[in-house]
Amino acid sequence: MLSPCLNPQKADGLLLEQAPVEALDSTDSARQADLLVLERYPPAQVNRSLQAWDSGDEYLLKTIAEQSLLSSSATPIKIAIFNDNFGALSCSLSHQKITFISDSYVATKGCKANLANNLLSDENIEFCNSIELDEEKADLILVKLPKIKAYFHYQLQQIHRLCGDNTKIIIAGKAKDIHTSTLTLVEQQLGECKTSIAWKKSRLIFVNRNAKKQTELPAHKEWQLDVENLNNVAVGNHANVFSRDSLDIGARFMLDHLPKVKAGTRVGDLGCGNGVLGMALLQKQSDLTLHFFDESFMAVQSAKMNVEKNFPEQSSQCQFHWNDCLNDVEAASLDLILCNPPFHQQQAVTDHIAWQMFQDCYQVLDTGGEVRIIGNRQLGYHIKLKRLFGNARIVSSNKKFVVLSAVKL
Ligand SMILES: C[S@@+](CC[C@H](N)C(=O)[O-])C[C@H]1O[C@@H](n2cnc3c(N)ncnc32)[C@H](O)[C@@H]1O
Repeated sequence: MLSPCLNPQKADGLLLEQAPVEALDSTDSARQADLLVLERYPPAQVNRSLQAWDSGDEYLLKTIAEQSLLSSSATPIKIAIFNDNFGALSCSLSHQKITFISDSYVATKGCKANLANNLLSDENIEFCNSIELDEEKADLILVKLPKIKAYFHYQLQQIHRLCGDNTKIIIAGKAKDIHTSTLTLVEQQLGECKTSIAWKKSRLIFVNRNAKKQTELPAHKEWQLDVENLNNVAVGNHANVFSRDSLDIGARFMLDHLPKVKAGTRVGDLGCGNGVLGMALLQKQSDLTLHFFDESFMAVQSAKMNVEKNFPEQSSQCQFHWNDCLNDVEAASLDLILCNPPFHQQQAVTDHIAWQMFQDCYQVLDTGGEVRIIGNRQLGYHIKLKRLFGNARIVSSNKKFVVLSAVKL
């Protein structure tokens, strides 16, 4: 089945439109009709009803066309795009000079895959993670409103650094997610703003940047852990890290049910966030090889910072990977994997990431290796583990959570 398509070429070169998909019988015919075929990443997800773009993308592109914000000459303008989920904006504007800024490995891979699938060149696109931003000035800055307010605050300060005197800034979000507090934050951090009318349930925020409001980038948030298995450990969290203000209650339960490990065990902390699970194991057994994996760059950087600060002597035994699950990790290379899986991708609730994680664990574990996970009781992870591993044991449970273990036989 052909994915839904967008038309970036209509009207003044940019109006997006959902294509009459039934009329198209292949990706090739979509291309010939100048439509973009955009897939979520990883492609071929079971839930095909989830689109790779939303009305915020469409509203931004429509507004850019209506206000003729792109240069009419052949010289491309410089556009910085924050939080482009699967590359809908970058693919549509790939003939301009683009800086793609994202905390998400999956979004970055999704954008690259969509560019390739639509035969678009990425030579005009610079891919940046959420922290290491090149501060070259942009003519236009497009922002998809992120879910976490602290991360939005951080990005508003990053935006200052990309602004010249005439830079235009437009932020898009679901109308229901743009509150008075959102606008207050924009005004406090960046400058005066005004909102558009809602269109297809999305709204735009136009910002008049005030250079005097530029301040230091917000520092990471740090708190002290108060649990038995992790005493005197300071946990630092960059702005976009899961449960950045306090220990997640699921992680807290998992910390009480970590396995005993012998020296030399090769361990993975999958979806590591700030690295609490891996660090707790390191506190029990210092002679480990530990790999921390997350798709959030800020998570991986937080885990690294936390290990270096709290376990400096073990930090050479630890490696940190920005990755999608355990993609391309060598088969049979780990003996134990700890995981507190996510149950949403961006705004969409889904269990496909957990499922992918479990499949990858099976590949990456050595024979006799164990995956130990925590999940909400109703998520039914034991069924998935049993299907893959042929076994699944309940280590412990309470009213809300269950800790499960499966062994690769
Ligand atoms: C429920 S949080 C657990 C964080 C931490 N381990 C804890 O227990 O507090 C799930 C983590 O999985 C990460 N994640 C989401 N999708 C991922 C993917 N495709 N590959 C790797 N990590 C992913 C999220 O960024 C998040 O840090």
